[in-house]
Amino acid sequence: MSRGVDLWVCPNGPLLVRGDIGVRTGDGEVHRTERPVSAVCRCGKSASLPWCDGTHQLIRFRDEGESHD
Ligand code: FES
Repeated sequence: MSRGVDLWVCPNGPLLVRGDIGVRTGDGEVHRTERPVSAVCRCGKSASLPWCDGTHQLIRFRDEGESHD
């Protein structure tokens, strides 16, 4: 029985996912994690794609079209 997943979009950062997930990348490879909460890169610059490694802070990643005031 699946427990489902919960998603949070971190402003100017990764997508946080709670639950057992697999991320299928463009080449068809599936990256699985069993961590309670995983961070999926949204900036595209992580050295550990598809996972966030914090690089978004170094490059000052900004969401397109979102306001975080
Ligand atoms: S969102 Fe964190 S490294 Fe890309």
